[in-house]
Amino acid sequence: AAQAGAGSFQADLLVASNRGPVSFAVGDDGLLIPRRGGGGLVSGLAQVVQDAPEDGGELLWVCTALSEADRRAARSAPGGRIDQAGYDTGGASVRMLDLDRVLFDRAYNAVANRTLWFVLHLLHSPSTEPSFGASFRQDWAAYEDYNAAFAEALAEQAAPGACVLVQDYHLTLVPALLRAIRPDVRIAHFSHTPWSPPQYFRMLPDSVAAAILRGMLGADRLGFLAPAWAEAFRECCAEILGATVEGDAISAGGRTVRTSLYPLGVDAAELRDRATRPDVQERVAELRELAGGCRLVVRVDRTELSKNIVRGLDAYRELLRAHPEWHGRVMHLVCAYPSRHDLPEYREYTAAVQRIAAEIEAEFGTESWLPVHLEISDDFPRSLAAMSLADVLVVNPIRDGMNLVAKEGMVVSTENAVLILSREAGACSQMSADALVVNPFDVTATAEAMHTALTMDPAQRCARTGRLAAIAAQLPPRAWFRAQLDEIAG
Ligand code: G6P
Repeated sequence: AAQAGAGSFQADLLVASNRGPVSFAVGDDGLLIPRRGGGGLVSGLAQVVQDAPEDGGELLWVCTALSEADRRAARSAPGGRIDQAGYDTGGASVRMLDLDRVLFDRAYNAVANRTLWFVLHLLHSPSTEPSFGASFRQDWAAYEDYNAAFAEALAEQAAPGACVLVQDYHLTLVPALLRAIRPDVRIAHFSHTPWSPPQYFRMLPDSVAAAILRGMLGADRLGFLAPAWAEAFRECCAEILGATVEGDAISAGGRTVRTSLYPLGVDAAELRDRATRPDVQERVAELRELAGGCRLVVRVDRTELSKNIVRGLDAYRELLRAHPEWHGRVMHLVCAYPSRHDLPEYREYTAAVQRIAAEIEAEFGTESWLPVHLEISDDFPRSLAAMSLADVLVVNPIRDGMNLVAKEGMVVSTENAVLILSREAGACSQMSADALVVNPFDVTATAEAMHTALTMDPAQRCARTGRLAAIAAQLPPRAWFRAQLDEIAG
């Protein structure tokens, strides 16, 4: 059971992820303001953690300080326990690791985001293809140290026999490192991303590819969001490590580890309740006014290359070119949450999104009609309002672990939104029957899907949104979390 005091505190249940449930910003008055982190991982986990204490044992979330403001918060907290320093963490016990800035930059920006994320999402183009030279070796050494820092913090804070749930591609080495220090704890690793097939994964230096797979195989259980990702992981183990794969089981280095599927859904009741609160309703009214009676084609994403925002806008432009009947009657509302702007690829991508939105505006906009409205902000209530008002929700990623926007959007829809869904999103393995499924690279087909969506008859829309909302509500965060714990604790 949990003991008081930061140094001696030991938890029965630990979550480890790079990004924690809150991050800090500095207000005009110089004080720290806590805010909710973005992305699927935090959306999924934040709620679980709030009620975990009633769920058996105390839960501790170990994450990193991501910015100077986070570092200030972590330094002012006893043992990095920011909840104990009086900050609102949404009810969670949170320990933020205050790591060396250069080390963090190399591990998070250079290795996790610029290298692994690109490899897992098949994002490389000839201009971004990596060269793994001496500087990458230094980056990789930092990634090893960063993973070791997590393993040590977890080893220190885990009660005997504790369960540790390690999240995502930032922490692939933690399972094996932690097992070596604390063989008594039970370890699960969960990938919120896709996994890439061996032909692509082998782009990484051999030693790095093998270290990642071996690191993850140190867990008792490996969780994935969709069947294709688990299969690709098993294929990588077979081909790169020479592991034996039988069904879900991977045997290598004298241990056998299984992959499991946990297709994360959303808490429909909680989200619907959230969407009725005044802050969201205020924004609903604002957006209605902005739309001025136009039908709304909506998307909500991080400014992220894999989300394919530029091709989505290009498809909308083709819709307007091919179907002038929509002029003056439709608006594309793009809510983009700023993301990873430390990387030049992301800054350039955001600029490209802004450019094409401006081009569409210049080509079609009139005094009385705003064809496209792009908002780059991290206003979650605004995104909820936009999703609830959507006639069409565009989710067209090049590749995506799950994509929770597809699920959130169906659950909060008040207009029976038609879902346009990329076949490369994990969500498509569950939602293909009632979505309009598109090849994310095919701009013309995506434009036609927009037209089909806008002309679909109301009864059909209603039936489809209803069925999709029911699927979205399957395996909500609490059940998703519980299922993983049951498997490793048993
Ligand atoms: C994805 C990843 C998460 C990550 C999120 C936001 O959903 O799977 O691990 O937290 O993107 O990205 P960021 O780099 O801002 O944490």
